[in-house]
Amino acid sequence: MKWVKIENSSIPQTDGIRKARIDSKNVCIIRHDDKLYATSVRCPHAGADLSGGWCEKGRLICPYHRHAFDLESGKGDEGQGDYIHVYPLEQRPEGWFIGLEESWLTRLF
Ligand code: FES
Repeated sequence: MKWVKIENSSIPQTDGIRKARIDSKNVCIIRHDDKLYATSVRCPHAGADLSGGWCEKGRLICPYHRHAFDLESGKGDEGQGDYIHVYPLEQRPEGWFIGLEESWLTRLF
């Protein structure tokens, strides 16, 4: 796992979703009910951009067909059979960091 600092401009200051490119990966940075989350951007249902969605009761809602995903686990609502990736976040004195998996290629070299 590699920890990368998130630019302050990519962090919503109020409830909302921002798409950020971090270490060549697109992620959604989400503030919901005063808590920060980071998830994958593409909806597993049909590929919609989840940064165009919204949050309700701890779930991220896809703007296309309204699939809902738990912000803590990434698990889709019952009956959907899908999930999104939720990245770990850490607040340090120098700011917020996101934990990204290193690809096998990066680990190799
Ligand atoms: S593309 Fe997200 S629910 Fe269909």
